[in-house]
Amino acid sequence: MQNLHLQTLLFYVSFLQFLVSSWSQNQQYYYNQQKNYEGSSDLIDLKYHMGPVLASPINLYIIWYGQWNPSHQSTIRDFIHSFSSPAPHPSVADWWRTVMLYTDQTGSNITNDIMLSGEFFDYKYSQGRYLTRLSMQYIIKNAVTASYTRPLPLNYHSGLYLVLTSSDVQVQEFCRAVCGFHYFTFPSIVGVTMPYAWVGYSGRQCPGMCAYPFAWPKYSGMKPPPGTNDIMGAPNGDAGIDGMISVIAHEMAEVSSNPLINAWYAGDDPTAPNEIADLCLGVYGSGGGGGYMGVVYKDSRGNGFNLNGVRGRKFLVQWVWNPVRRRCFGPNALD
Ligand SMILES: *[C@@H]1O[C@H](CO)[C@@H](O)[C@H](O)[C@H]1NC(C)=O
Repeated sequence: MQNLHLQTLLFYVSFLQFLVSSWSQNQQYYYNQQKNYEGSSDLIDLKYHMGPVLASPINLYIIWYGQWNPSHQSTIRDFIHSFSSPAPHPSVADWWRTVMLYTDQTGSNITNDIMLSGEFFDYKYSQGRYLTRLSMQYIIKNAVTASYTRPLPLNYHSGLYLVLTSSDVQVQEFCRAVCGFHYFTFPSIVGVTMPYAWVGYSGRQCPGMCAYPFAWPKYSGMKPPPGTNDIMGAPNGDAGIDGMISVIAHEMAEVSSNPLINAWYAGDDPTAPNEIADLCLGVYGSGGGGGYMGVVYKDSRGNGFNLNGVRGRKFLVQWVWNPVRRRCFGPNALD
């Protein structure tokens, strides 16, 4: 789950720190704090609750819900292909190595074999434009049973379903509490139990919330700090999509380590778990945490990124909790 209240709070802290740092050092927003704060292990009680993780090769199915821009789709496809394909270090596949450190009771690690095995185009908005969490179950049911077009397979051995909603679709709690979530299907609706994740395109509804740091919270009334070149540029040219990439990564990490909400999470409440990506929200590089995004790179046009993907793509993806180092970590770490 991606908690927005935390993200909003982090934003304000980050903004204040930004003002202080830009005033005192006349620097851009690539913080390089002396103190390396990447999450304190003392505060984290991440535990294994004996449930399965996604240890077998994953067949990923995308359900494009609503109207999608083909160039946005191709950015997301390239990101998915990058999980299991080589790219220059630090790559998306390198980033996934931290997720692979999580095991189940048999000692099997999370897989790095993630294949985009099918796509379904729900351009008819089968469940309308106002969706609840429960609607996701019906969207998946429709995708595996549709007769007006080729349905997706009902793959209960190794299927993972990713529902992506377009800019004109409202989802319960989207833009208020969450940017994405993951859960599993109910046998009573879909026929079987299968993990799924949902992520919404925030470009029109709330880029400042779900596409941070490529956009500022609109309601804050704040302008990008003077003297800086606006907000951070999106490496694939669209704040909504580049923000969505990090949320997809976040949900992929969490659905793999906690697919049935009984494996890896911190805290005592399984209905509001703190999962491996929740613990590192807003951290993208060394020095990140407490509101700093950390040290990331700039491409030739000055856009921020921290990972390389297939076909020369660059992505900005938040870090996840590393259970061996006991801190947030990513392959662009300076140490
Ligand atoms: C599997 O997980 C264990 C425990 O975190 C780790 O030591 C090992 O390196 C992992 N193996 C792979 C291939 O990631």
